[in-house]
Amino acid sequence: MCGITGYIGEHTSSAVLKTGLQNLEYRGYDSAGIALVGDELQVYKQQGTIDGLSIPTTETATHGIGHTRWSTHGEPTDENAHPHTDCSGDVAVVHNGIISNYDDLKQELGGHLFESETDTEVIPHLIEEELTAGADLRAAVMRALTRLEGSFAIAVTHVEYDGIVAARQDSPLVIGHGDEGMYLGSDVTAFVEYTQQVSYLEDGDVAHIDATGMTVFNDGERVTRSVQTVDWDATAAGKAGHDHYMHKEIHEQPTALRQAISGRIDELAGHATLEVDLRDAFLESIDEIHIVACGTSYHAGLYAKELFEPLTDVSVRVDLASEYRVHDGHDTQRTLVIAVTQSGETADTLTAIRQAKSCGMTTLAITNTVGSTITREVDDALFIKAGPEIGVAATKTFVSQVTILALFGTYLSRLRGTLAAGDAADLLANIRQLPSAVQIVLDAESQIQRLASQYADSEAFFFIGRALGYPVALESALKLKEISYAHAEGFAAGELKHGPLALVTEDTPVIALLNSGAIADQTRTNVKEVEARGGPVVGLTTTGQPDSFCRHTIEIPELGRLEPLVSNVALQLFAYHVANELGRSIDKPRNLAKSVTVE
Ligand code: F6R
Repeated sequence: MCGITGYIGEHTSSAVLKTGLQNLEYRGYDSAGIALVGDELQVYKQQGTIDGLSIPTTETATHGIGHTRWSTHGEPTDENAHPHTDCSGDVAVVHNGIISNYDDLKQELGGHLFESETDTEVIPHLIEEELTAGADLRAAVMRALTRLEGSFAIAVTHVEYDGIVAARQDSPLVIGHGDEGMYLGSDVTAFVEYTQQVSYLEDGDVAHIDATGMTVFNDGERVTRSVQTVDWDATAAGKAGHDHYMHKEIHEQPTALRQAISGRIDELAGHATLEVDLRDAFLESIDEIHIVACGTSYHAGLYAKELFEPLTDVSVRVDLASEYRVHDGHDTQRTLVIAVTQSGETADTLTAIRQAKSCGMTTLAITNTVGSTITREVDDALFIKAGPEIGVAATKTFVSQVTILALFGTYLSRLRGTLAAGDAADLLANIRQLPSAVQIVLDAESQIQRLASQYADSEAFFFIGRALGYPVALESALKLKEISYAHAEGFAAGELKHGPLALVTEDTPVIALLNSGAIADQTRTNVKEVEARGGPVVGLTTTGQPDSFCRHTIEIPELGRLEPLVSNVALQLFAYHVANELGRSIDKPRNLAKSVTVE
């Protein structure tokens, strides 16, 4: 939820750390700070974004740590901003996660001086106690960690220590190996302009990093963590001329999709060739799939359920990860639990997966993030290969998640012999055409922008759909509300008349999914109900089939069961332009952050 960065090497560390924090700002942006080690330890921190953080130009320290915060314990104030220090001001700590026993620890640390309301502040004081007892910094950190409960990634510096000590437990940390120093980040974006050579720390790891390399310990023993090369660079993490990351990422969808599909469809044999490690015998034996996910990823799961059920004889249940419960009597040996998560770090999703595993269920992750926590915990992982997604609102990863789930559905059904060859060919053909269908919608952006500017000031927005259109209605409402702060709701179209119709006025546009795969004929009845009450309707229809009952139509290329997925792209553009029209902070919406690592 927060972003951590660290650097030691030949560059001026304040500049490297500030760049790192700017890159990580999507993880949290209510306060920021840096601790620099030179002749003394200097801490610069304040409420607000990293751009507001002023560091004297004379500051030339060659190592330090930084933090950008999304507040949990304590308001976003200067005092609560990280880094936090001990009583002497010699130790500085930045932290991502939650220390659940901090109240007890604070009482145990009775004689120490606390300046913030954060849970983090107990850490430098615990380290101080160990240093006073004679430990060096690494040993002091290791001993302090044994007293912490909760989840954390931390980075620690000390005025007399020529290095950084970093540790992780349930929160991500990555080390970068550069020619001109060593880097630390909550994720690779923190330092990708300097190096693409990375090592992912694992739970329980404590690393010492100096200018020449790293040494990692786990459970007191020295361990090796491999150096891997990430397959994207700083260009992929930049805005590439777009005003916002979200706009860039919406436009990257054709490329993201091509990356997701590449090498995963056997054209000759006409089936998906996914790199699934789960045993065929297990996949043939299952009778239930549970999909667990949050937010946009949950909507991808709902879309997948609609795709799976005609393909396979396996029943599919989709749960919000935070609501997932396994009840007694469930046949855990015949259930596959699929976690869908862009970041691979979402705490609710990790908890759901841990619950599934503790009941003996087999787990699979669909994720964008190589090296993420979930990939270390599941039995198997499939990567969506969408490239970095920086905008807080998920866009390109949604379409890629659905695509990989669709491929997995065809893979499974072929294995189980439940899919007619013609059906597989149709869905695979649609998947292959998806990038160009999305491009057609992107090319029609100006029409969608005009509609957005016409309706931007509306009192509320309602999205309605059936079958494959329903998850898209939910997802489109989520996108609009999170970046524009407008009141937006998604409804199953048939439910409108059971209550929400009372909300419809001339000032509440209703956006209706009237695509193939979305049982459009019945939704048309609901469209008429809305128009009869003066509500303006924007219909998403198949190209060449404009709907006379809708005040406006956006035409979507014919694409069978994936057509509503293409409509979703049009509605991402609609949300973007409404938010832009209202002057919102599109990439960093209020109160939100990407990668939610608290429950
Ligand atoms: C919405 C959004 C969130 C995430 C949710 C799950 O635009 O980004 O709703 O989808 O927090 O995140 P992941 O997929 O990283 O588990």
